[in-house]
Amino acid sequence: MPKYNRKIVSKLPKVKTTIFTTMGHLAQKHNAINLSQGFPNFEPDPSLIDLVTQAMKQGYNQYAPMAGVMELREMIAAKIEQLYGRHYNPDSEITVTIGATQAIFTIITAFVGSGDEVIVIKPAYDCYEPAIEVNGGVPVFVQLNNTDFKIDWEVFRSKITPRTKMVIINTPHNPSGTIFSKEDMLELQKCLENTDIIVISDEVYEHIIFDGLEHESASKYDGLASRTFVCGSFGKTFHITGWKMGYCAGPVELMHEFRKTHQFNVFSADHAVQKALASYLKEPQHYLGLNQFYQEKRDLFLEGLSTSRFKIKPSKGTYFQLVDYNDITQEPDEVFAERLVTKHQIASIPISGFNTKGIDKHLLRFCFAKTNETLERATEILSKL
Ligand SMILES: Cc1ncc(COP(=O)(O)O)c(C=O)c1O
Repeated sequence: MPKYNRKIVSKLPKVKTTIFTTMGHLAQKHNAINLSQGFPNFEPDPSLIDLVTQAMKQGYNQYAPMAGVMELREMIAAKIEQLYGRHYNPDSEITVTIGATQAIFTIITAFVGSGDEVIVIKPAYDCYEPAIEVNGGVPVFVQLNNTDFKIDWEVFRSKITPRTKMVIINTPHNPSGTIFSKEDMLELQKCLENTDIIVISDEVYEHIIFDGLEHESASKYDGLASRTFVCGSFGKTFHITGWKMGYCAGPVELMHEFRKTHQFNVFSADHAVQKALASYLKEPQHYLGLNQFYQEKRDLFLEGLSTSRFKIKPSKGTYFQLVDYNDITQEPDEVFAERLVTKHQIASIPISGFNTKGIDKHLLRFCFAKTNETLERATEILSKL
């Protein structure tokens, strides 16, 4: 390619290769067990694959409606109403998206402009900040306590200013595996009273929650539902992260504005997959059984680590488990994670990169959405450290 000497002024000067990519490459290079990035290493239900094939054969191969296939939106509305008691109009208050990531990016793009502040709770999943910054917004951080990952609502309240446009929450929480309680949701609701602040509630792990705990969806709370986009992901729920299929639900006036951006961004999501998911959702056990499925995997992982030197608080939700390695070494988390993958063939994610100011409490995140055999091999290695 002939070189043209142009000056590129990056809109995202801070963005570098992510830790997920780095760890993924290292895992491949060293033939390591990869518990870093969050995706299952087992197959989805074959009947779901059959439904997609069938839909393709039936001719659902052209553009889907902009907001999503109506049967799917109806199924999403029915599911939310049944689980959380909130009715969203499938016609005007639910949109099917290319994964939760696109829903989040589009919401931020539709509402956040130059100088608008967006409160992000750290440690945070990595797609929020670049989406805010590329739109000229300013992320404002509230750091969770790094021991129990609880939020200090007084600190949160102190970050609200007249420029606060949006708040992003995530429960069950990646990477910590904690969840927001009912009290947390009520505190959030109270903090936002008498403001126009919009909320993104990232609930992609809503069906992965353990020990009988309940998912507190923002949609359950009147004062939150009226200002919130709830974002979901079929990728997480049905072991199909590669299909990139999600949705958001929100009040009509917010959704109207969302769709103005959505239609010129992606227009619509995969047609055949939407048809298949509409059928698959008819059986509630397909998503209600997930808590138990992943709880067994979490317990297998924890049991395998019970004689290890890691200090562990069992994850309450998501398919991630944090481990504290202070009794093994005082190396920085990125150094230890790299040593684990290169010398012990096991890949994880160091947590400091998710925190404000790179706070390093010597925590690693392991993904347990893996076959039992993989988890057993992984814990055998980790127990010997
Ligand atoms: C907290 C959180 N939000 C959103 C996503 C992205 O979901 P999707 O794959 O549906 O875009 C992930 C994926 O890891 C996540 O952990």
